Amino acid sequence: MNAPASARADGKTVYTAWAGLPALREAIAEQLLRDKGVSFDPAHEIIVTAGAQAAMLTVTLALFDPGDEVLVPTPFYDEYRRDIMLADATMVPVPTLLEDNFEINPDVLEQAITPRTRAMILISPSNPTGATMGRSTLERIAAMAQRHDLLVIWDELYDRFVYDGFEHLSLAALPGMRERTVVINGFSKCYSMTGWRVGYVAAPREISDALLPIAHGMTICAPSVSQYAALAAITGPHDWFAAILSEYDRRRQLWMQALDSMGLPYGRPRVRTILCPTSAVPALPRSSSPGHYAKRAT
Ligand SMILES: Cc1ncc(COP(=O)(O)O)c(C=O)c1O
Repeated sequence: MNAPASARADGKTVYTAWAGLPALREAIAEQLLRDKGVSFDPAHEIIVTAGAQAAMLTVTLALFDPGDEVLVPTPFYDEYRRDIMLADATMVPVPTLLEDNFEINPDVLEQAITPRTRAMILISPSNPTGATMGRSTLERIAAMAQRHDLLVIWDELYDRFVYDGFEHLSLAALPGMRERTVVINGFSKCYSMTGWRVGYVAAPREISDALLPIAHGMTICAPSVSQYAALAAITGPHDWFAAILSEYDRRRQLWMQALDSMGLPYGRPRVRTILCPTSAVPALPRSSSPGHYAKRAT
């Protein structure tokens, strides 16, 4: 990839706009529209961040107040817990079950809603469980979010790693959801660019306006040379990905055969090679203060 070397040679090593290179935001908006059927304005509704990780913390700090409850299906990517704690909000774990392949049951999710519930953080395909959400589940969740006036933080970092004919759909594309969905994605997984640190948030303008000062406060902008690399990746050909996906699928099959041969139960993964045997579900505090976080964070 020559884009970062050219960017460095051309002296493009200075701060970019807070929200990221306009050309990169435009390319992200085009990809969201083309692949997911959801339209975000690249000038005001997309913020490039230092990875999806920074995107998630930006979102929790900007949108959650102390006392807000945030639903998170378990097992979950542990950063969600830390980010919610840092916002001094309360994470409400909502169980998913091995026998359901760790797929979310919208009824169980809805039972966890209280007057303090502000949002839910959902991921499909999921790290760590490999679970996915199909159209009917997404439609039920969309109806519920609208019924209870909830925000949905929608992590789709693994959107391209789907198998068995599963088609990834974006919750933001469902009727009535664009205005209440905060999409998080990035370049780490699909483009294998973990160390470059480029991710993004796409959200309605009112929300993006609240996110931008926090994103600026954390890193001013995502690394400039990395943004040029991301721009080259997203605007370049994508035909190489089929071979990568097929290799991950091969490894997934191997893992499943190995676990089957040992008689260990697991959720059938539809994402990368992440598998979730039953013993992986941690016990959680329902609420923790930032001081508590400082003691617990590892
Ligand atoms: C679910 C999930 N969200 C966010 C991240 C952070 O990704 P990034 O490298 O883009 O910061 C990861 C990384 O593994 C992840 O698995």
